[in-house]
Parts: sequence; structure tokens; C-alpha cells
Amino acid sequence: MTKITWEVILYPMSIQNAYNEWSEIYDSNQNLTRDLDQMLTRKAFAGQHFDSILETGCGTGKNTEFLVQIGKQVHALDFSQGMIEKAKEKVKAENVRFSIADLTKRWPSDDSAYDLITCNLVLEHIEDLNHIFSEAARTLQPKGKFHINELHPFKQYPGTKARFEKGAEIVEVEAFVHHISDFMNAAGANGLSLLTLGEHWHSEDQGKPPRIVSFLFERA
Ligand SMILES: C[S@@+](CC[C@H](N)C(=O)[O-])C[C@H]1O[C@@H](n2cnc3c(N)ncnc32)[C@H](O)[C@@H]1O
Repeated sequence: MTKITWEVILYPMSIQNAYNEWSEIYDSNQNLTRDLDQMLTRKAFAGQHFDSILETGCGTGKNTEFLVQIGKQVHALDFSQGMIEKAKEKVKAENVRFSIADLTKRWPSDDSAYDLITCNLVLEHIEDLNHIFSEAARTLQPKGKFHINELHPFKQYPGTKARFEKGAEIVEVEAFVHHISDFMNAAGANGLSLLTLGEHWHSEDQGKPPRIVSFLFERA
């Protein structure tokens, strides 16, 4: 039997370039976190309807496909050209537009424009949570909702990061640890209050720490 050994490489590669490379295989390689997030997102919003949704960090459009069914208009942002090209191939709906945008800068959105903002598996790559909550608060309508699904910090503490295979190597993407209190404090500082908090396991995670943490915040 051949023993395969993987070498974990921390490339001096920007997060943006890492996702450009990952885009080729993001949908096809094994990824329990991606799959769990997809299932949770559909369950969280089943039967609900929104006028205007902002999806931050849409990636290859895994959740955009669903959001166009529950939103009259969807604006999907990502800073990776590779990921967003895959999303455009996948989601041909007329009520979606895609924009290349860096979430660490001012978002290309008007004030009070959305009744739902979603952010799935993105914030581990963003150091300054306060900026994200500040932009979410600016662009949400009063009573608008901000939904986050993120890699649970319990998974991050031992060192788990977003990673993908590149030939015989594994590339880890630069990541920042955010504690639950970091999310809560950033939300509170920007006038967003918590409606629900969830912790979620994949069916293969029995006996392990939760894989995903979810938050639903509401603007005052
Ligand atoms: C793990 S993928 C998740 C994609 C999608 N939300 C999903 O759940 O399948 C993370 C995404 O966040 C994007 N991203 C990371 N940092 C970003 C930033 N500063 N601005 C915009 N997009 C960013 C990446 O390009 C990538 O598409």
C-alpha cells in the first residue's frame, strides 16, 4: 500500500490569490464545513422572503443559488475573480448581480439598502471585525438582519484553518481567530443585537467540538 504524506505549505500567498487558485476545485473537493454551511443556510431561511439581500464573500455561489430564490434582488460580493467567475457560471438568475469588492474596504452599497446581509465562512480571513459590523450596520435597513455562519473558534483554537490541496501539497489560507465575545462586542458597538446563536456539527463530527457557529443579528 502506498503511503501518501501531505506537506502543509504556508505560501506567501495573499488570501485573494489563494482563493483564485482554490476556485478551480472549491466545489468538487471534500469539504465538510462547506457542506454543513450549505445545509444550515437553506434551513435557516426556508420559507422566508426578503426584498434586497447582500451576500458578502459569495465564493463560487453555493449559497447565491439559494438566496436568489428567497430575495427579490441579490447583490453578491467577493474579492476573488476566480471564485466570482465560478459563481457567475453557476447562477444565471436575473435578480442577482455580482461585484468584485474587498470587504475590508467600504462596501459598494448605499446606506440602509438591505433587509438581509449574509456572511458565510468569510470572517476567519478578516482581521478587523469592527469594520465588517460597521459596514453591515450602515447598509442594513432598520430591523434588517445580519446572518453569519463561521468556522467555530473551538475548531480554530487547535489550529484548523481553511485549506485546500494543490498537487501533493496542502495550502492553508491565512486566518484570524475570532472569539465568540469578539463577534458580540463588535455587534454591540455598532448597534446590532443578537436574535439567535447556534452551534452546529456535521454528522461526521460526533464527539468533536462544534464546526460552525451561527449568529443572527438585527439592526435597531
Ligand atoms: C471559504 S470561502 C466561502 C465562500 C461562500 N461564502 C461559501 O460559503 O461557499 C471564503 C470566501 O471569502 C472571500 N473573501 C475572503 N476575504 C475577503 C475580503 N476581504 N473581501 C471579499 N471577499 C473575501 C474569498 O474570496 C472566498 O470566496
